[in-house]
Amino acid sequence: MKEKLQALLDEARVEIQAANGLKELEDLRIKYLGKKGEVTLVLKNMKDLTPEERPLIGKIANDVREAIESLLDASKDDKKGLEIENQLNREAIDVTMPSKGMPRGHKHPINVALDEIIEIFLGMGFKIAEGPEVETVYNNFDALNAPVDHPSRSLSDTFYITDDLILRTQTSPIQVRTMKSQKPPIKVIAPGRCFRNDEIDATHSPMFHQIEGLVIDKGITMADLKGTLDMFAKRLFGSQTKTKFRPHYFPFTEPSGEVDVSCFKCGGEGCRFCKYSGWIEILGCGMVHPNVLEECGIDSTVYNGFAFGMGLDRVTMLKYEIDDIRVLFENDIRFIKQF
Ligand code: DAH
Repeated sequence: MKEKLQALLDEARVEIQAANGLKELEDLRIKYLGKKGEVTLVLKNMKDLTPEERPLIGKIANDVREAIESLLDASKDDKKGLEIENQLNREAIDVTMPSKGMPRGHKHPINVALDEIIEIFLGMGFKIAEGPEVETVYNNFDALNAPVDHPSRSLSDTFYITDDLILRTQTSPIQVRTMKSQKPPIKVIAPGRCFRNDEIDATHSPMFHQIEGLVIDKGITMADLKGTLDMFAKRLFGSQTKTKFRPHYFPFTEPSGEVDVSCFKCGGEGCRFCKYSGWIEILGCGMVHPNVLEECGIDSTVYNGFAFGMGLDRVTMLKYEIDDIRVLFENDIRFIKQF
């Protein structure tokens, strides 16, 4: 029995050394020391021994048991370290690998144009004003001197939320908000999203963008209006750009006009872009109507001013030679990336 135990220890030592991983070590522990393990079996057979032999063999068996246990423990520690090392190696991050790359977004062409326009006006001393897209009928129409029967008020042109609330059809209500909350001198531009019940086609979208401008001070004249907008056009479209002021009608300005710029594509000779007229319309403008000043709490005998409003989408399309407004709002990164 003594030999048997000795042989078991030798056998266990060899197997433990050859064991591959913690799972195999556990299997070996069960094989030798488990309830039905080999060493356990030897101990169970002790009853067949003579009383003299028993303590002797008992001691050897216990020694063998302890020896196997410590061999297992030692090997377990080694294997654990090795396994951690293997795991670390397996999961190591190779910082030299090229990354998969997160596709980056791109500034939308409307924002590229807007930022350029903002930069031009900031350079002329304007500040930025803002207003909500959901506006009161009062701010969008009444305070702007729009007659009660003005066609743009109709349900077919304007998105009504309630009788008194709409999606603003223009950025002009920001004029009202600004004049009611600030004292002159006022010099602001106000970019924003507007909404009209228009069918979508190559030049119309029910959602579009405008940039409003408002200057209020003492002794403002048409010359200030023309000088400001002429300078703006030259900065945005190039120094050789000419401007043309045509009379027009807007309820909130008097006199009112529309501004054309000489076609920056053909220089005024006539091409596809200017529909062979040599001119391109970019905005509406005028001297702020005294009714509007008074409605907003500004004394029209002391102060006056000018206002303008331009279509940002249209300016963007002209600047980048985009001939369909719809592509501006499809958000296809392949398109947006080009600007
Ligand atoms: N709000 C006008 C529109 O949507 C544009 C406009 C014209 C704005 C003249 C102005 C202005 O401030 O003075 O058609």
